[in-house]
Amino acid sequence: MSSKRILLVGGCGFIGHNLAIKLINLGHKPFIVDSLSVNNLRSIEQEDVINKKLYEGILENRLELLKKNNIELIIQDAREYHEISKLYSKIDPDIIIHLAAVSHANKSNKDPHSTFDHSLRTLENTLDFAKNPKTHVIYMSSSMVYGNFNSLDVDEGAICKPIGIYGTLKLSGELLIKSYNQVFDLPYTIIRPSALYGERCVSRRVGQIFIENAIQGKEITINGDGEDKLDFTYIEDLVSGIASCCEKKNAINQTFNLTYGHSRKINELLNILKSEFPNSKVNYSKKEKFMPERGTLKTEKAKKLINYKSNFSIEDGYIRYINWYKSFWKKFNS
Ligand SMILES: NC(=O)c1ccc[n+]([C@@H]2O[C@H](COP(=O)([O-])OP(=O)(O)OC[C@H]3O[C@@H](n4cnc5c(N)ncnc54)[C@H](O)[C@@H]3O)[C@@H](O)[C@H]2O)c1
Repeated sequence: MSSKRILLVGGCGFIGHNLAIKLINLGHKPFIVDSLSVNNLRSIEQEDVINKKLYEGILENRLELLKKNNIELIIQDAREYHEISKLYSKIDPDIIIHLAAVSHANKSNKDPHSTFDHSLRTLENTLDFAKNPKTHVIYMSSSMVYGNFNSLDVDEGAICKPIGIYGTLKLSGELLIKSYNQVFDLPYTIIRPSALYGERCVSRRVGQIFIENAIQGKEITINGDGEDKLDFTYIEDLVSGIASCCEKKNAINQTFNLTYGHSRKINELLNILKSEFPNSKVNYSKKEKFMPERGTLKTEKAKKLINYKSNFSIEDGYIRYINWYKSFWKKFNS
């Protein structure tokens, strides 16, 4: 396998920094372009965020790890067309992985304007650069493009009927990329992850909030009755799958679900948490509006075409994540 120059736009986020470390360990040369201004150090310091100090510590830890792994980070807003065109030319990547976005459904519904700007404006800039010379673009879409699942599991051919701003913009991004493929023959891969959890996430998704509240002796709130099922996916499975998309020709011009491939109830995740924090207190509240009914995202296509393997059930992945949190918490408070 030849070493590739891989540009990660929005690469200092949760997925991006874990992916960059994976790629360098596989012998590739990752470069990160990130403004650190969305769900990251520069925005968090200006916002009224719960656990602010803790998140600053986690985000600084990301930067330390990137430095330790000799991964180049260029701080730049990817909305700035002229600056990024010059920068991307200089980097001269074989592959661009586009991760920049407002990556949270609730935040997107509250601020559609900035979601469009950071998600689609930045994507169009990437595509405009990538069309000449033709550069493989890997786009991070989402399970939210499907909207309410019509059945217990969906494959990539299922009809997409997103609900709300986030899923709709993700689907718009997919269509935009496909149009660049039609018009400019641009090689692409679209990835649909779901319900990710793992080390150094600050996005306040369910698995993270559970641990943070449990570790601080705070009550855990579940939106709904906890019987909803999600295809919880450990970050290591996703980044391994994305790395395969960088390395396998079969990934070109394809859309893949990259998840664990088997949905589990939120209450099952909670039971794993309780095995580590037996005194946790739980209360149930109303389900969030605009949250679609989801389930399993089938991964058979990725297994067949790129040899994708998911290795971490929540029994394995979530325990690893909890253990990491406990040790980070201890260091953070010492
Ligand atoms: N985490 C999940 O569960 C999940 C699930 C499905 C899809 N996704 C998608 O995967 C991608 C990455 O997700 P994540 O969890 O790493 O998100 P994240 O919020 O942790 O990271 C996004 C990064 O993009 C950067 N960014 C945003 N706008 C930018 C701009 N204009 N210029 C430069 N950098 C900019 C931010 O500073 C941040 O570091 C997103 O597109 C997200 O929608 C995530």
